[in-house]
Amino acid sequence: MNTLRFNLNGTWVEESTVPPTTTLLRYLRDVRRLSGTKEGCAEGDCGACTVAVAEFGPDGRATWRAVNSCLVLLPMLQGKHVVTVEALKDSTHDAYHPAQVAMAKALGSQCGYCTPGIVMAMFEATYRDDLKAPWQLDDQLCGNLCRCTGYRPIREAASSIAGCRPDDRFARALPQLKPQSMQFRREENGSLFATPTSFDELWSLLETHPDARFVVGGTDLSLEITKRFQVPRKLISLEGLHELHTLRAGPVHHLGSAVTIAELEAWSGSALEPLHRMVRYFGARQIKHRGTIGGNLCTASPIGDLAPALISLGAVAVLRSRSGERRIPLEAFFVGYRKTALQAGEILAAVEVPALAASTRAASYKVSKRRELDISSVSAGLLVEVDATNVVTTARLAFGGMAATPKRASQAEAALVGNPWTEATVENAAKALAQDFTPLSDHRGSAPYRSLVAANLLRGFFDETKDVPRPALAPGHAATVLTAEEVHHG
Ligand SMILES: Cc1cc2nc3c(=O)[nH]c(=O)nc-3n(C[C@H](O)[C@H](O)[C@H](O)COP(=O)(O)OP(=O)(O)OC[C@H]3O[C@@H](n4cnc5c(N)ncnc54)[C@H](O)[C@@H]3O)c2cc1C
Ligand code: FES
Ligand code: FES
Repeated sequence: MNTLRFNLNGTWVEESTVPPTTTLLRYLRDVRRLSGTKEGCAEGDCGACTVAVAEFGPDGRATWRAVNSCLVLLPMLQGKHVVTVEALKDSTHDAYHPAQVAMAKALGSQCGYCTPGIVMAMFEATYRDDLKAPWQLDDQLCGNLCRCTGYRPIREAASSIAGCRPDDRFARALPQLKPQSMQFRREENGSLFATPTSFDELWSLLETHPDARFVVGGTDLSLEITKRFQVPRKLISLEGLHELHTLRAGPVHHLGSAVTIAELEAWSGSALEPLHRMVRYFGARQIKHRGTIGGNLCTASPIGDLAPALISLGAVAVLRSRSGERRIPLEAFFVGYRKTALQAGEILAAVEVPALAASTRAASYKVSKRRELDISSVSAGLLVEVDATNVVTTARLAFGGMAATPKRASQAEAALVGNPWTEATVENAAKALAQDFTPLSDHRGSAPYRSLVAANLLRGFFDETKDVPRPALAPGHAATVLTAEEVHHG
């Protein structure tokens, strides 16, 4: 149980002395001397460190997923299969992988520093069976930076192999894989890393180590190690708790806290469109494969992208401890700057979201300086219900980036409810936003800019939903905001 065991490039490796807070990137380069995997930023932004991990989706099938090895701590691989760029060439037949051949043919590499990471992002694309639209290729590659080649040849290379699904050893390996237990526990010199696989085990660990911190995807927490060089002494990973990965549609949708953003994106397209608009531009593919719903909400960042969308949808946080479960409205989960309502010995188990009535108007918006892989300056989740006489009966307007926590705009909501859903009413509500928020100025936006953007998002929401309650983004859409032309002509 205290030995790390995972499959690296086709061979099972066991490690009982490497510290469990070692990142996969450092392990590959320093311990295994596999230096094909590069380090650029060590914070998930450049993709130079991309490797592939076989992960089981909600449908029980294993798929190769591109992840940032700089953010993966070794126990997050327990029982899993990892492929690095060194393994791509088939030495028996002296044949390079289609992703490598495509990059060479398209002249997609100059200095070559970014190339292994890009080839590994393309490796995932090779085996995907859901790459149907050109914009998905941009999404596949947006987590990889190249400073010298230019993206046209790289995109051409990716386009030529995307979804080609060669019948090779990587494809044939997937159906043979069975999910393995992630159970792991290492305690030494007052430090702890544990991945419990049952709730009983989790509660017992918490009784012995009340000062332990949780981790799941590590896309937030690992930065403490890689950027601040502060290694948490006690970590408990919740990734091994099967139940937390449940994603279930119903009259009340159940979103397990360990569901990844990529899984949420794939599911919400048809089940919860307003949320889907938000996750489209959440991080990059590598981040979406590791980042989770629970991790996003529990950081309680005022600019976390899920909170405003989920609050507007009436989400309820399900908190669980040894003594049982309690449910609170998601807006009450955020009690201060980066502070949640979680008590000692409690985890966020799931989020429950009521299914939307067909007539409910709802959308979510992310405004950032750059479209891809950027942090929101302002975000919003907006929901309005209107009765047969066009009078607003319910308004739930939630904003991120406007206060110390993701927060509902109660004054603006009050200006809407009981009044006709018209431009004049929306204008009053937009003005009332000034009483709801006194935003800060920082490098992402000044206070007046944020206030104006928030008011304009509300105005835009009215425009968007006048005729269609929940307009979807076009497949190749460049933002979470629809243009006036798209609103009026579909
Ligand atoms: C390059 C990059 C891009 C990003 N882009 C975005 C973006 O576009 N939008 C956005 O909102 N965020 C973004 N993030 C932030 C981060 O990826 C997300 O917040 C992600 O969802 C965190 O999930 P995780 O599982 O990786 O969290 P972890 O790092 O594992 O955990 C984060 C925190 O939550 C706690 N925690 C996790 N799960 C639970 C639980 N179930 N119960 C109690 N506590 C828990 C942990 O103790 C820890 O303190 C980005 C991060 C990076 C590095
Ligand atoms: S080193 Fe840049 S994403 Fe990992
Ligand atoms: S080829 Fe030089 S960074 Fe991409």
